[in-house]
Amino acid sequence: MTVSSAPGKVYLFGEHAVVYGEPAVPCAIERRATVSVDRRDDDHVRVVAEDLSLNGFAVEYSGSTDEHPDVDVPTSLVEAAMGYIDAAVEQARDAADEPDAGFDITVESDIPLGAGLGSSAAVVVAGIDAATRELGVELTPQEIADRAYRAEHEVQDGQASRADTFASALGGAVRVEGDDCRTIDAPALPFVIGFDGGSGDTGELVAGVRELRETYDFAAQTVETIGDVVREGESILAEADPDGTPDEELLEELGGLMDFNHGLLEALGVSSRSLDNLVWAARSGDAYGAKLTGAGGGGCIVALDPTPETETALQYTPGCEDVFRAELATTGVQSED
Ligand code: PMV
Repeated sequence: MTVSSAPGKVYLFGEHAVVYGEPAVPCAIERRATVSVDRRDDDHVRVVAEDLSLNGFAVEYSGSTDEHPDVDVPTSLVEAAMGYIDAAVEQARDAADEPDAGFDITVESDIPLGAGLGSSAAVVVAGIDAATRELGVELTPQEIADRAYRAEHEVQDGQASRADTFASALGGAVRVEGDDCRTIDAPALPFVIGFDGGSGDTGELVAGVRELRETYDFAAQTVETIGDVVREGESILAEADPDGTPDEELLEELGGLMDFNHGLLEALGVSSRSLDNLVWAARSGDAYGAKLTGAGGGGCIVALDPTPETETALQYTPGCEDVFRAELATTGVQSED
């Protein structure tokens, strides 16, 4: 059996604007998806993914997602998850030049699904790494990032930036601008994450921003302003000591920019009442700053606070399903054999 894990991520700055070529800074976090792979004698793929939903599911199939047998979770959820796993399997078969390789796959994840934390990217990245290694092929993290991007691109009908897959494969803080992705220095930022229990429809939210941007110059300018916020955030990070504990001044500056970024995302219509509630609860809990992370509509917010106050404030906020602290993950995809 070959086992790999890969981290989820938060967007420190720049989601949505990244779709239009502005830079973004996603950061890998220590919440991981773990994928175990055993080669089979036939060309079937059997997937057990108990943590991908509340009920879990086990599916055996031989090819397309249309053929999945009965399972006890909503079909849409299974099909979404299976789509990513299928795409990862295809990438591994292609990388190893073994088009008929079959696998038993187990997926475990502590990353909430579809909530802005890069759950699907982590599964795809870990899946490609484990399946290729099971077939005797070692890919570099960069090659895994490229293949995982292709897999996500295919599943999401072309609506995927490289941010999630690159951050998950390489780890650390990342700068993404179009096809140009690289890791950047960042100190250990004290991320606190609040989850409203929901998820947003990324395709719809991206389409909504696109329409606003095409209709109004001020919406297009809002997207560009997010790019300016990101550039400002990058220069603050570049001046910080990557090995030091972030000081108050740094957290205040970054937090202020996170607040500004959230305001711009809200103006673009991608926040929600529950995400705004969590953002305000974090701020009243003394966070240096807070914003939604990912596509929005529902899911997670990320705040900066080294003390337990923001966690406590969020725990007592109606509509907050889960709160946790997440360290910056300095390692991306890794072997767990
Ligand atoms: O919700 P997530 O983590 O998949 O992030 C979506 C981020 C967008 O910028 C809205 C889309 C993208 O692919 O970059």
